[in-house]
Amino acid sequence: MTEKLDLLERRRAEAELGGGAARLAAQHEKGKLSARERLDILLDEGSFVEMDKFVTARTDAAGVYGDGVVTGYGRIDGRLVYVFSQDFTVLGGSLAEAHSKKICKIMDHAVRNGAPVIGLNDSGGARIQEGVVALGAYADIFLRNTLASGVVPQISAILGPCAGGAVYSPAITDFIYMVRGTSYMFVTGPNVVKTVTHEDVTMEELGGADTHAGTSGVAHFACDSEIACLTQIRDLFRFVPSNNLADAPRGAGTDPHDRRDESLLSVVPENPNKPYDMLDVIRRVVDDGEFYEVHRDYAQNILCGFAHLGGASIGIVANQPAVLAGVLDIAASMKGARFIRFCDAFNIPIVTFEDVPGFLPGVAQEHGGIIRHGAKLLYAYCEATVPKLTVITRKAYGGAYDVMSSKHIRGDFNVAWPTAEIAVMGPKGAVEIIYRREIAEADDPVLALDAKVEEYRQQFANPYMAAAWGYVDDIIDPRDTRPRLIDALATLASKRDRNPPRKHGNIPL
Ligand code: HXC
Repeated sequence: MTEKLDLLERRRAEAELGGGAARLAAQHEKGKLSARERLDILLDEGSFVEMDKFVTARTDAAGVYGDGVVTGYGRIDGRLVYVFSQDFTVLGGSLAEAHSKKICKIMDHAVRNGAPVIGLNDSGGARIQEGVVALGAYADIFLRNTLASGVVPQISAILGPCAGGAVYSPAITDFIYMVRGTSYMFVTGPNVVKTVTHEDVTMEELGGADTHAGTSGVAHFACDSEIACLTQIRDLFRFVPSNNLADAPRGAGTDPHDRRDESLLSVVPENPNKPYDMLDVIRRVVDDGEFYEVHRDYAQNILCGFAHLGGASIGIVANQPAVLAGVLDIAASMKGARFIRFCDAFNIPIVTFEDVPGFLPGVAQEHGGIIRHGAKLLYAYCEATVPKLTVITRKAYGGAYDVMSSKHIRGDFNVAWPTAEIAVMGPKGAVEIIYRREIAEADDPVLALDAKVEEYRQQFANPYMAAAWGYVDDIIDPRDTRPRLIDALATLASKRDRNPPRKHGNIPL
């Protein structure tokens, strides 16, 4: 027996060496951690249980154990998660039949057991030596990503190259984390781009972390280091449940539920055209001021992220008046819609803070399909059956009023601050249309315009007409926002609502 145990130990050690000491050193030289070091940071200490350690590739004569990926399960804050971590030291972490089967196995376990899947990607893509078998092996994963979507959270960390069709597995998952300087995603790299379009572009510019987190929106998070990235993934699990039937974890904070915040009285400026930072509102309302922002660098005119409110996990969607006056454009619509659908799939209540002047006008937006993309946000809010709470802090104009979780599309708890302006359009635009002739014919058109604007403001740019129709449930003192939302959330804990039976809706993609 002792001999057999010794052999097992030797084989284990061999498997854990991956592609060997030299390649591991090269990995470290690039500022990257090894596949196993990453798992040590991601998971609770000592919790990782490896599966398929001794699997080898059919085409690999040398028979390297593991076939370039470490798979198994572990714990984050004591909760079960399934993981794969590609090992770049073995054939560049390239994906082949056995490698894919290992990933598929943990994904199948995750879905059956209702646990999230976290993929740490660091790979040269389809293993060239395996030809079409490697392509099929990718497709096996894509199918599982799709079937697991909305059942268990799927998280992707890109910790090295991720090229070609390989990008589409992370793209189907819920959240993508990238690391500045070492992780790249593109369908074709700079050399192919140069050949086809004659554009000169660096790896970082084409598909680096900041490009995808800020410009394309492909990535939700850009992190400064692998350690920061893995720690941030752990943090996400303070807000999201393990599956679509489980409760989200409650916050551990001690922020009093009845805390009123005096400073909320002065957040909205007197001048309705002056910007302010909606983050100041969010942080003063949620537990301990803590907001886990998603897609922070993309479409900054809308804010999305997680928080706890009275201990309950919530998803926040908020217009950001400090950026483009909080207008809704194509990027903001897509960002909001995707986040709302995640929250709805995983039963996380959605709290909306609204200050929106409308949809962004312009040829670029119209030609880019603002109608189609704006409809995504509308559709996502309409179809969501989770508790939906809305606070209108200032502007709620035009179609954007309907879209941003209004009462008409099943908002459960809709309140306005006294500073709210709820109308078809802003005072100046409205007056210029309905009083055009009167103003033009006035002795002093400027004075006449000002007078009409003031008149309109008194009549329409306030929350009282909406309240008179029951389109907001109440007009509240801003200081009471936190206790009122916590109380409403409690009433909605037993909410029952469902959409009509159907195969699936047809969101305007
Ligand atoms: C087999 C591969 C490989 C691959 C890298 N290697 N990519 N082996 N198949 N796809 C091996 C190398 O031979 C090398 O082996 C080791 O991994 C490290 O690679 P290097 O090139 O030395 O590393 P580096 O200089 O850091 O460059 C990394 C890289 C480059 C940028 C990823 O290797 C590269 O361009 N690889 C090919 C990328 C690619 O085009 N993949 C196909 C994408 S299409 P040794 O033995 O020397 O250590 C695709 C389709 C998906 O994936 C299908 C879905 C529909």
